[in-house]
Amino acid sequence: MQSLLILNGPNLNLLGTRQTEVYGDTTLAAIETMCLTKAKACGCNVTCLQSNHEGELVEAIHAARDVHDGIVLNAGAYTHTSVALMDAISSVSIPCVELHLSNIHAREEFRHKSFIAPVAVGQICGFGPKGYDLAIDAMLSYLGQST
Ligand code: DQA
Repeated sequence: MQSLLILNGPNLNLLGTRQTEVYGDTTLAAIETMCLTKAKACGCNVTCLQSNHEGELVEAIHAARDVHDGIVLNAGAYTHTSVALMDAISSVSIPCVELHLSNIHAREEFRHKSFIAPVAVGQICGFGPKGYDLAIDAMLSYLGQST
């Protein structure tokens, strides 16, 4: 059975109340429940983690070695700044799908740059919470398990 890590970065714990005009009103807990339901339907295993700390995200990526087959990563603002997260993804050779609720390319220019994109299999952005569902499908398809 394939195992996926759904990793969320800074401020995503505030989904539901945070800038609802940009991110909508779905909470992270609801998104994680949706991911677990999706996993059951797809016959895969999903583990959800969130941290506001860059080092903890790096350590979660390291800990995914020999445990998870793929990582779905919404690195939040660290997407645009973190060489450490980029290096962590490169270092573990676990495929990663980059995910954003909002369309980062239609927003401020500083959000157009992603340090994750060059080391990701692909990027999903702009579809709100549905993006997590799409990212799980994309990762399972990449791993060779059709849904
Ligand atoms: C985000 C987009 C980032 O630019 C922002 O810093 C976030 C959320 C998204 O999911 O749309 O925290 O990753």
